[in-house]
Amino acid sequence: MENKILIVYYTHSSKTKKIAEIIKEEVNGDIMEIEPENLYPVPYNDVVEQAKKEINMGYKPKIKNNVNIEDYNIIIVGSPNWWDTIAPPIITFLESANFSDKIIAPFCTHGGGGEGTSFKDIEKISKAKKVLKGFSIFGSGGKTAREKIVEWLKEIGLK
Ligand SMILES: Cc1cc2nc3c(=O)[nH]c(=O)nc-3n(C[C@H](O)[C@H](O)[C@H](O)COP(=O)(O)O)c2cc1C
Repeated sequence: MENKILIVYYTHSSKTKKIAEIIKEEVNGDIMEIEPENLYPVPYNDVVEQAKKEINMGYKPKIKNNVNIEDYNIIIVGSPNWWDTIAPPIITFLESANFSDKIIAPFCTHGGGGEGTSFKDIEKISKAKKVLKGFSIFGSGGKTAREKIVEWLKEIGLK
């Protein structure tokens, strides 16, 4: 069966979006940005505080998207590392659909801490059929981002 790929990501300051867009160019899938109904504050300290509270209490923010994953067999899921895990809007997305016959390829952008527990959390929350090896990158990855992305896509058999 030919792969039908959907790339779903959340971004707060565009880095995860940049990576998602390169992935889209390389795998030729569809792409969707998850948007929370209430946007997170822009000032860094404010979003950091709010995210800490939400993650600690397991809060799942409402999202604007109604994502239909039916037509896809592979979902590439991207999030910034927030407090060593995924951003809460991605939790909402993962809980909104049935991944039992889906393959997830996770990726994360971070500020130096790697993916933390992001990939394990994606696996736990989604209950996907299979979660492929994840990809993590510092910020939007600079000049070598595309090269690293292509290497990862080849490693997991998507290129
Ligand atoms: C609320 C918040 C929490 C963060 N926590 C971490 C962290 O625990 N470890 C880390 O390496 N980077 C952390 N960062 C940095 C982001 O992961 C990094 O800047 C990421 O590339 C931002 O992606 P975006 O531009 O798509 O939002 C945090 C950033 C924010 C806003």
